[in-house]
Amino acid sequence: MAESVKLHELEFVPYLEKSDLEQIVAKLAARINSDYRGKCPLLVVVLNGAFMFASDLIKQLNGDVEVSFLRVSSYRGTASTGEVKEMMPVGVDVRGREIIIIEDIVDTGRTMGRIKQKMKDSGALSVSICTLLFKPDAFEGDYMVDFIGKEIPDRFVVGYGLDYDGLGRNLPALYQLNPK
Ligand code: IMP
Repeated sequence: MAESVKLHELEFVPYLEKSDLEQIVAKLAARINSDYRGKCPLLVVVLNGAFMFASDLIKQLNGDVEVSFLRVSSYRGTASTGEVKEMMPVGVDVRGREIIIIEDIVDTGRTMGRIKQKMKDSGALSVSICTLLFKPDAFEGDYMVDFIGKEIPDRFVVGYGLDYDGLGRNLPALYQLNPK
């Protein structure tokens, strides 16, 4: 098992190994492949955190897909700011498209709720959400999260694309804030 890591002033302990993440991603890909067989969904990857997850997931999708990116930010430190800033638009016409939003983690659900609503308002035919991680105890949304890789406790995690104030994205496994 990997050792704990220190990012800025905080210590993070190993939580999910690379092999655990691979299994989670493979299961999500299989579900998407089955649900979207014969369709051509537009995958909207939410940057920055979802880049590593999306790259592994999308390689395992075997039908036609299109890929686009959206950049938002709502976190400062280890707490959601509550306000969601959109920093880079999708840049693709979503009208009539079947969208799958690819997200690293759904926490309060504010970010995803806002993106989902925006896609619907822009005329998307359907909008589903695929997230690697989901924190049910923090979730405040009134919508369905369609594809969930793993439900986790309401504790801050880093690695596999997720950061703590800019650091930790390069870690190939997932680490959890040390409760001590
Ligand atoms: P929400 O709007 O509260 O659901 O927050 C979603 C966004 O906050 C995610 O896309 C992440 O970028 C970030 N986030 C939420 N929880 C964590 C965490 O435990 N570690 C790192 N980033 C997180």
